Amino acid sequence: MPKVTRIGVTFPPELLKDFDEIINKMGYESRSKAIQDAVRLYVSDRKWIKEEDTVQTGVILMVYDHDAKGLESELTETQHEHSSIITSTLHVHISEQDCLEAIAVKGKASEIHHLSDELTTRRGVKILKTTIVTV
Ligand code: NI
Ligand code: NI
Repeated sequence: MPKVTRIGVTFPPELLKDFDEIINKMGYESRSKAIQDAVRLYVSDRKWIKEEDTVQTGVILMVYDHDAKGLESELTETQHEHSSIITSTLHVHISEQDCLEAIAVKGKASEIHHLSDELTTRRGVKILKTTIVTV
């Protein structure tokens, strides 16, 4: 394998602008190094996804638009379907429009991964972070 591989990536302009502002403030000399660091962090955060059969514990943190048509009942339905790995759910009304839900999960990594993907791909879900605690 070569030492480095060059890839082409497209960005929404707003995202790139925010990214550049942050990495300039941080003192990065090139975008490449900053993007490599970001991807490395992304991979490290998701290492657990590869360990499908082990039991993991963590929290799914989700922000969604409660005005999105049908979303709230879909989210509830999905959580009922996966109630065997959900230990508790906390709901916070952030603003007129947005809700935050913290879903505590304990179960096989593959099931947590499945649940997390099922929620994050719904239209109206704005942010979803799955944090697995490794002790
Ligand atoms: Ni709410
Ligand atoms: Ni499912």
